[in-house]
Amino acid sequence: MGRGLVSCALALYAGLSSVTALTPEGMISANRYGDAIPNPTGDFALFTVSKYSFETHNSSSKWAKLDLKTGDISDWEGDESISEFLFIGPSPSSILYVNGTNAEEDGGVSLYFGDALAIGDAKLVASIPAPLSGLKAALTSSGDINFLLSGLAYPNGTAYNENFATKPASAGRIYTSIYPRLWDHWLTAQKYAVFGGTLKTATPGNGTYGTGSSFSFDGKLTNYVTGICNVTCAESPIDTEGDASDYDLAPDGSKLIFRSKDIDLPLSNYTSTPLYLVPFTGTSEDAVLLNPSGAPPYTDAEGYSTGPKFSPKGDKIAYFQQNGINYESDRRILYIANPDAKNAQITKLAGKWDRSPASLEWAEDGQTVFVQASDLGRDRIFSIPMTADNDFVPKNITDEGTPSGFHVIPDGLIVSDSKIWSSRDIYTISAAGEPLKTYFQSNKVDPELAGLGPEDVSEFYYATNSSEIKQQAWIVYPEGFDNTKKYPLAFLVHGGPQGSWASSWSLRWNLKTWADQGYVVVAPNPTASTGWGQNLTDAIAGKWGSYPYWDLVHAWKYVNETLDYVDTTRGIEAGASFGGYMTNWIAGQEMGQWFKSLVTHDGVTQTLGAYNSDELWFMNHDYLGPYNASGMVPGSPYYDWNPLLYSDQWSTPHFVVHNELDYRLPISEGILLFNMLQTKGIPSKFLSFPDEDHLTLKPENSLVWHTEIFKWINFYSGISNATSPF
Ligand SMILES: *[C@@H]1O[C@H](CO)[C@@H](O)[C@H](O)[C@H]1NC(C)=O
Ligand SMILES: *[C@@H]1O[C@H](CO)[C@@H](O)[C@H](O)[C@H]1NC(C)=O
Ligand SMILES: *[C@@H]1O[C@H](CO)[C@@H](O)[C@H](O)[C@H]1NC(C)=O
Ligand SMILES: *[C@@H]1O[C@H](CO)[C@@H](O)[C@H](O)[C@H]1NC(C)=O
Ligand SMILES: *[C@@H]1O[C@H](CO)[C@@H](O)[C@H](O)[C@H]1NC(C)=O
Ligand SMILES: *[C@@H]1O[C@H](CO)[C@@H](O)[C@H](O)[C@H]1NC(C)=O
Ligand SMILES: *[C@@H]1O[C@H](CO)[C@@H](O)[C@H](O)[C@H]1NC(C)=O
Ligand SMILES: *[C@@H]1O[C@H](CO)[C@@H](O)[C@H](O)[C@H]1NC(C)=O
Ligand SMILES: *[C@@H]1O[C@H](CO)[C@@H](O)[C@H](O)[C@H]1NC(C)=O
Ligand SMILES: *[C@@H]1O[C@H](CO)[C@@H](O)[C@H](O)[C@H]1NC(C)=O
Ligand SMILES: *[C@@H]1O[C@H](CO)[C@@H](O)[C@H](O)[C@H]1NC(C)=O
Ligand SMILES: *[C@@H]1O[C@H](CO)[C@@H](O)[C@H](O)[C@H]1NC(C)=O
Repeated sequence: MGRGLVSCALALYAGLSSVTALTPEGMISANRYGDAIPNPTGDFALFTVSKYSFETHNSSSKWAKLDLKTGDISDWEGDESISEFLFIGPSPSSILYVNGTNAEEDGGVSLYFGDALAIGDAKLVASIPAPLSGLKAALTSSGDINFLLSGLAYPNGTAYNENFATKPASAGRIYTSIYPRLWDHWLTAQKYAVFGGTLKTATPGNGTYGTGSSFSFDGKLTNYVTGICNVTCAESPIDTEGDASDYDLAPDGSKLIFRSKDIDLPLSNYTSTPLYLVPFTGTSEDAVLLNPSGAPPYTDAEGYSTGPKFSPKGDKIAYFQQNGINYESDRRILYIANPDAKNAQITKLAGKWDRSPASLEWAEDGQTVFVQASDLGRDRIFSIPMTADNDFVPKNITDEGTPSGFHVIPDGLIVSDSKIWSSRDIYTISAAGEPLKTYFQSNKVDPELAGLGPEDVSEFYYATNSSEIKQQAWIVYPEGFDNTKKYPLAFLVHGGPQGSWASSWSLRWNLKTWADQGYVVVAPNPTASTGWGQNLTDAIAGKWGSYPYWDLVHAWKYVNETLDYVDTTRGIEAGASFGGYMTNWIAGQEMGQWFKSLVTHDGVTQTLGAYNSDELWFMNHDYLGPYNASGMVPGSPYYDWNPLLYSDQWSTPHFVVHNELDYRLPISEGILLFNMLQTKGIPSKFLSFPDEDHLTLKPENSLVWHTEIFKWINFYSGISNATSPF
């Protein structure tokens, strides 16, 4: 795919009215959009557009430029080698970018400085000898640019480049404490670290860029993290879970903040993640804890700290922290710290707000932060003023969809989000939430998404017996839906379990893709779901097979009794991760008889295998304590909610997917399930990808995943006329 992707698509499909079903091929190969990053004056924004081709079996990626004055979208001249950038320098279009290649150091990257409006003239300013990323940069008082990048480091602190590493003769691995592996890799001596460097200006200014824009780099990178050690050493960003939002650089480049797991605790057992503050000119020896675990005045703040960000003047740091020390889904609370105080003065804002905000951005005047939080099946942006007291209840300033990024511009905010019916919308709003302008909606331009819209989706609330509150479920209609006809039910259970089906576009479990096979999709948000208050999220602890199961029964009965256009006698059920656990649980309960077939992706078959996982705090929390042999009696969640103990009741045809690189729920769970099903003579099929982890991400694998699962469920639901499910 060459240049002209965006403009070509816009030209071709403006006014297109033909409507087609969303196929797996179409969903996987449709354009994928990054979020729009505006320049400081809000004149234009840049975003990536990438596309996979099933013809060439290749991905291509390019940058698009959105003119925020005219709304025009055109190709930006920067090419695919620009992996990330930020606006910094004398003019509002001055730009510093990471070139993901390095001509001198194989496997390294490089930094270029130039002007976004003449990007071809950008100059190489730094050669970085390792694959670092996550660029942050700030102008210093002398006119230099201080920057941060992050990546793996050797135990001695030097940046790690796999291409130059010496391979040991044996591949053996030895561990003497818990946490040998995480997500999809075995842990090694190399840990993530934040590195700092300085781009020296050729023409010193005084708090300005001087007259020029020419910089040089002496090659010196300071590692601020690796040297901080006790029981373990510090690591930032945190492996797998973390990213560049784990650290930030003060706007004058004088100091940085980063988060690390608590170095005094066994890492797989606790989430505790304090923040460290370090002078830019210092080293890891100068790092001080901003919010030591359990320190006054907020002694119960001991869990994950996330998203630290300096205010525009640098006089405040906003961050979130959870209380629970072994619970990844506790409520995140907003804190504001003064980085210049001797003992960082910390203030909690809107501390009682019953939502769990995630990402944050500062308003330009430093008097408000905008936060994103899961809210009633969407992710909404809320604003929280510095004057907010503990009882303050923030107001949402967006409504539909799930933002993937939002940025402050002079007029308000530019938001890039997605919805069940659109892979990318880009729009602006005022700081108070008034809509300003909608610039882009992928369902209006991408042929694969033609005809999708909010009318494809609805929701209902139903009463259940596990919670006082009614619970929500999404309905997604198939292409050409006619409510006088009947469609088989696809009943989908989300993972987590602390998570939700939200109005967002996803390349996995894309609700509209399932619906367009010819189903009415019902996607319930039972006990454990996020966005309806912390009590609903927390209520699953110790209750895996009861509350959420009862809720699903109630949701299904609501559908059976209320939605005339749904044929529940031809229904199928499917879920991944916790949704896969629940599918296996359902298989042995009464509900298992209500479906024609079941699909488990990377689920749990037996709770005794819980300690095969990577992060042990998860089971310790959700099963009310660590596994122990004498505790395997009725009354213990490990015993009570073990799907395998109900396998005598299994009989429903069952499709099993389990990937080899899944170290969260290892493949033995899927093999056990398949072997049991086969032994019992229950129609079943097993799919496994040796190169995928807990998620199936590669386009070719994803196509096989969809094709095989749909072939199976469409046979059992009677949608296809195939003579066999295989
Ligand atoms: C895919 O891309 C790679 C690298 O960009 C190129 O070498 C290769 O020829 C491409 N393959 C096809 C089938 O286009
Ligand atoms: C990226 O770096 C390579 C050398 O590694 C160079 O050939 C290429 O022109 C650079 N591209 C950009 C956009 O800077
Ligand atoms: C750090 O360790 C690596 C791997 O042993 C080695 O290649 C590198 O030279 C060391 N760096 C320093 C500064 O000692
Ligand atoms: C920089 O400017 C400030 C006032 O803006 C002045 O006090 C200071 O002396 C200047 N420093 C240099 C090195 O010129
Ligand atoms: C190291 O960790 C232990 C707890 O395991 C703690 O008591 C001690 O104070 C820590 N030492 C330092 C220097 O942080
Ligand atoms: C891990 O945490 C659990 C409680 O959640 C505790 O019982 C266990 O002793 C801890 N293990 C270690 C090594 O700290
Ligand atoms: C805030 O959310 C409500 C639904 O809870 C919605 O009706 C309202 O439009 C949203 N406000 C804004 C400014 O989008
Ligand atoms: C959450 O549960 C606690 C304990 O049962 C109760 O006191 C509190 O009122 C509940 N909060 C909400 C918002 O329902
Ligand atoms: C709640 O409803 C479920 C599903 O109908 C049922 O199995 C369960 O026994 C009920 N629980 C209580 C306490 O009524
Ligand atoms: C579903 O609804 C049908 C028709 O109302 C009813 O006969 C059937 O018993 C219901 N199924 C269950 C499991 O409640
Ligand atoms: C084992 O687990 C049970 C139930 O969770 C608990 O009551 C008991 O104290 C535990 N025993 C040990 C030795 O940890
Ligand atoms: C299945 O057969 C029926 C009746 O012959 C036909 O109307 C329908 O289009 C066929 N469906 C598929 C998916 O081939």
